[in-house]
Amino acid sequence: MLFTIILVFISFIAYKVYQKVRVPEGLKNVPTLSFVSLVLAIFSDKGPDNRWEFMRKILEKEGIGKIWFSGEWFIVTTDLELTKDVFSKTDLYPKTSLEESYPGSLTAYYYGTNVVISNGDVWKRHRNVANPAFKSLPMHVFNETAVKLLKVIEKVDNEPIEVKDLMHRLTLDVLGRAVFGFDFNNLEDPTNIYVTTYQEVTAECDKPIYFIMPFIEYLPYFDRTEARKKIAKINELYNGLIEEKRKSMETEELSKKINNNTADLLECMIYASKDPKNPMSNEEIRYNLAIFMLAGHDTTATALSTILYVLATRKDVQRKVRDEILRVLGDDLTPTIDQQRELKYLNMVIKENLRIYPPVHQLPRRESSETIKFRNHVFLPKTPILINIYGIHHSSKYWKDPEEFIPERFEIENDEKRDQNIWLTFGGGSRICLGNNFSLIEQRVTLCALLRKYEVSLPADSIHKDKLHLGHINGTITGLQPLHLIFKKRTE
Ligand code: HEM
Repeated sequence: MLFTIILVFISFIAYKVYQKVRVPEGLKNVPTLSFVSLVLAIFSDKGPDNRWEFMRKILEKEGIGKIWFSGEWFIVTTDLELTKDVFSKTDLYPKTSLEESYPGSLTAYYYGTNVVISNGDVWKRHRNVANPAFKSLPMHVFNETAVKLLKVIEKVDNEPIEVKDLMHRLTLDVLGRAVFGFDFNNLEDPTNIYVTTYQEVTAECDKPIYFIMPFIEYLPYFDRTEARKKIAKINELYNGLIEEKRKSMETEELSKKINNNTADLLECMIYASKDPKNPMSNEEIRYNLAIFMLAGHDTTATALSTILYVLATRKDVQRKVRDEILRVLGDDLTPTIDQQRELKYLNMVIKENLRIYPPVHQLPRRESSETIKFRNHVFLPKTPILINIYGIHHSSKYWKDPEEFIPERFEIENDEKRDQNIWLTFGGGSRICLGNNFSLIEQRVTLCALLRKYEVSLPADSIHKDKLHLGHINGTITGLQPLHLIFKKRTE
């Protein structure tokens, strides 16, 4: 009897495992990408460049591959036809809701439903609320924070300084003041409670083991009670921010700001919470704060770090950028919006940096909402689809000498001739990044201030001497190994 029970139990488990690993009929002809290489890459903190190495052959030839990961078969693609479809047919390829795919999980608990991860009418409502906050950006915040950055660097003049952390501090301060109306003051005080709690929470959310095997979260020993306490703590901080802002805003003052487009994101959301027809709830405001903390600062911090590395290692590019800055800005430290348009070479260098090191290396997952035929393959409903931005940016199908840093690719005449879907730094279609202009302004202002005052170089013993070592943060954002650079004051 006992033997029969054990046999039935084992057969049941074996059947369940078979169901999980079995390739769906319609994906049988899609070439398979290595699961083992991906897991090794994640555990050894390798970046998207490493993944591209083992995916390149298949994706450059076929445009799509399948990979078994976290209990499902995913489609990974660099195919432009499929990419365009994903951007234009958002009903057919909606984003995957965290609550649906990982109900009750830590990430669902922290990020919930927000402007980045939502679909249809819910997404439209969130995007319409957030949009006005990005219409007229507070230039003084970008400028003042750049000046603060110079003060920090001045204290370590001509000694190696860790840039990745420094850029996070800068971009968090800019985001806080410009978008939440709150000064994290992280450049001056790296240990303030908002920042340390945020770091603890993201470290929990990005733990590789849960990324690779999300189902273990449902087992008793792995239920992440401690991590949930950290999230509860940051939620309290977010609630405090919301309440403080709510109290400080007389309704009339708020309406005035909304009407003349000077309200920041938090003010726009608080205003939307008073909408009698479809109010934005406190919980939704908090979920948006959580996602903006991630989307609005980690990305630009990576972009600034990688471009500083490029400038440190390509002295010819650094010289040319600086010459242009000095010519266009005259005696000014930071550029006006008009001057930013004139900084043509800097803009090309920024774009090329974002091509070579895209801070978002893969778009958040989509899934087919119905059966879709693609070439001779069939995607059943709920097939997860990943657009591999890093792959598209590094494919020799789309770019000549893709591994070479060539800013001139982005000269207007070259840029206009190209298919616009091969530079996907900020995504595309209606879900294009809301903060793209914000980020580009932040990058230009910071680089102008830095290059006017400092000569940037890489220490001789740097781990990045031969190439920049990227890292793994999560499924979408590109990480970076610690990067020390030297800033030597220029004699003007
Ligand atoms: C270099 C910096 C940045 C990069 C590379 C980047 C990249 C992206 C990408 C690729 C998407 C599209 C995601 C998708 O289609 O699933 C996106 C969406 C978004 N980004 Fe950014 N981003 C950057 C900076 C920012 C900043 C500074 C903010 C806000 C302050 C921001 C806010 C958003 C929001 C709200 C969305 C969702 C848009 C929607 O779905 O309607 N991003 N970003």
